[in-house]
Amino acid sequence: MEIKNKKALVFGGTSGIGLATCEQLIEKGADVIAISRDPSKANSVKHNRLTFEICDVRIEEDVKKVFEKYAPFEILISAATGGSRAAGPFLEMDILGFKNSFDKLWGYANVVRYGTNYLSSDGTIVLVSGAPARRMKPGQIALSAVGGAVENLVRGVANEIAPRRINTVSPGLIDTPMFSQEGEDRKTFLNSATASHSIKRAGKPEEVAKGIIFAVENDFVNGTTIDVDGGWVNS
Ligand SMILES: NC(=O)c1ccc[n+]([C@@H]2O[C@H](COP(=O)([O-])OP(=O)(O)OC[C@H]3O[C@@H](n4cnc5c(N)ncnc54)[C@H](OP(=O)(O)O)[C@@H]3O)[C@@H](O)[C@H]2O)c1
Repeated sequence: MEIKNKKALVFGGTSGIGLATCEQLIEKGADVIAISRDPSKANSVKHNRLTFEICDVRIEEDVKKVFEKYAPFEILISAATGGSRAAGPFLEMDILGFKNSFDKLWGYANVVRYGTNYLSSDGTIVLVSGAPARRMKPGQIALSAVGGAVENLVRGVANEIAPRRINTVSPGLIDTPMFSQEGEDRKTFLNSATASHSIKRAGKPEEVAKGIIFAVENDFVNGTTIDVDGGWVNS
């Protein structure tokens, strides 16, 4: 799909990977609606093709209202984390924390289920999973279970919504506001978490956004996962 003059809705488009994707879509000439619970965090980003919208992806009625307001559109992306994520060994994990980790999946389910109705017949959807879906490290069982569910949702839905397309982009460790550490602590964390990968550094949100743009632009890519992970899954 040529992005120029298309309309794109980006859930989670106010920070990190989602925001970088909005910026690349705008550079390519799309009109972009960046959506999250608190878009004020992206206040410094201004463009006449960029609109901010408030919505929590977990609230079905609010998601439907966003689609009704901006329909029709050709590009639908969600990078919205959804809620909190549980870490640690499964048997020791607070079961509510484990269940809440699936907020990401429920948010994506709302976006796909209600958004597809308003997507053009040549339209395309991209969701964001994560490398633990297919290669988990210790303590990442919740992340892995959710990521695997997202990737399988996409594989199945691709056959239902054709000729519209849907794909997943799977990032490795990416230097975004998702991580709260600052200064030397942040450097140490990002370096040690990527030391076993073939590319020994954290990725940039712009690098993942390029993967998302590839999935949008290439009309022969469908129902699959594109890894942008510095070699994590293969390490
Ligand atoms: N960074 C990494 O290392 C990494 C690795 C693997 C996978 N990922 C995945 O990549 C995606 C983007 O992550 P990121 O690193 O770019 O994180 P981020 O910088 O924290 O951005 C997350 C975005 O999602 C929005 N969001 C979160 N919960 C939401 C909700 N319930 N409703 C609507 N919007 C919501 C946030 O805005 P509000 O807070 O305003 O709602 C924000 O715009 C996520 O799915 C994450 O799991 C990231």
